[in-house]
Amino acid sequence: MRDLTNPIDCILLGRKLAQGFIPHWDGLAANPETADDASRKFSSTPKIVFSRTLDTHEWQRNELAKGHLAATIRKLKDQPGGDIMVYGGGEFVSNLIREGLIDAYHFFINPSILGAGMPIFGGRETRLDLQLVYAKTFGMWDSGAVLPTEVSGMGGTMAPAKPKLFFIVKQTMKNILIIGGSSGIGSQLAEQLSIAGQHVWATYNQHQPGTHAPGIEFFKFNALEDALDVRLLPDVLDGLVYCPGSINLRPFARISPDDFSSDYQLNVLGAVKVLQAVLPKLKKSEQASVVFFSTVAVQLGLNFHSQVAASKGALEGLTRALAAELAPKIRVNCIAPSLTDTPLAEGLLNSPEKREANAQRHPLKKIGTPEDIAHMAAFLLSDSAAWMSGQILHVDGGMSSLKV
Ligand SMILES: NC(=O)c1ccc[n+]([C@@H]2O[C@H](COP(=O)([O-])OP(=O)(O)OC[C@H]3O[C@@H](n4cnc5c(N)ncnc54)[C@H](OP(=O)(O)O)[C@@H]3O)[C@@H](O)[C@H]2O)c1
Repeated sequence: MRDLTNPIDCILLGRKLAQGFIPHWDGLAANPETADDASRKFSSTPKIVFSRTLDTHEWQRNELAKGHLAATIRKLKDQPGGDIMVYGGGEFVSNLIREGLIDAYHFFINPSILGAGMPIFGGRETRLDLQLVYAKTFGMWDSGAVLPTEVSGMGGTMAPAKPKLFFIVKQTMKNILIIGGSSGIGSQLAEQLSIAGQHVWATYNQHQPGTHAPGIEFFKFNALEDALDVRLLPDVLDGLVYCPGSINLRPFARISPDDFSSDYQLNVLGAVKVLQAVLPKLKKSEQASVVFFSTVAVQLGLNFHSQVAASKGALEGLTRALAAELAPKIRVNCIAPSLTDTPLAEGLLNSPEKREANAQRHPLKKIGTPEDIAHMAAFLLSDSAAWMSGQILHVDGGMSSLKV
């Protein structure tokens, strides 16, 4: 809440809310036993109260506004200064939404039962195009809202007569380590998980991420040279994702045994090293999940793929063996993508012609996106995949199993 209130220098309120809230905040802020940063900030910030009926008021530092709501707010927004926070009932807020005056929405979902309520997004002809920037779950408990559409009697406890719509957000916070979270699939996964409120520790090797989603802690790690510093990680880990990989495509006759060996080092031994380092932390989780990455070229024989297929094939074998050995507390699965639009595949996708030819090779006529693959990884990490282990998931546009 403090992050939200820090940049504001004006609060807009509807009359009804102002009559209850302004004395409440002022009272909290004036009492040394109840004053805190939030109440002091709310009390001291200038407020503008919109009212059709009030002519005078007794609140200090606050103004009444009686003119046209939208025009007054537009004028305020044109002035230099910080953010404007709006507090109001459904009607007040939905008027502002209709006028296109809201630049950012912050929704707080508490475990609560609501009555019929008042829709704030109703009465629009076009959908609002909102982009989710960040979501966070607070506390150890499930959070969410139950919204009955019909409610009998609003006094006392609200008992829904016929609950027709039932919506619950259930999210267990997890600690996830992503090796190779700075690029491609790993970077997309880190972002998805942090938006979903998970705690993410992610590594980079050569490319330190600049701006990134909040809630991701990055540190440097080279799987070929470094020992993983487990002191940087929490005591309990619920998920490990190992992303480093290679695409070295050459005729078999031109690949040296050392080339095979270096791919094996990165794809297999890197994963082994990391998993052994964090195994005690994964064992402390009630239900941990490990995700590796293979390639479509293991299931489907492809020209010039012997180097990558050899080490990824070993990783698939390792997946099944470990899934058996670490059950039931730790699940181990592996995703086998086909060509996916990431920096790793740049050489195969660096012209419109190559992109089109590669898209056409797939039954689903497109190349994969990092999102396509990260969704599957996020699923495997989640409780929704609680009964899956030892699987190789072919997320490949149909490449490994369809002929169309
Ligand atoms: N993209 C595809 O078409 C495709 C197809 C099939 C399978 N896969 C597999 O999917 C996985 C993810 O691929 P991607 O396309 O997302 O790759 P990417 O964009 O190259 O990302 C790889 C990540 O691993 C890190 N990394 C690279 N070498 C490392 C090392 N020695 N030690 C530690 N971290 C290292 C990179 O860090 P820095 O960037 O900071 O160096 C980066 O964060 C790989 O295992 C790959 O084999 C990809």
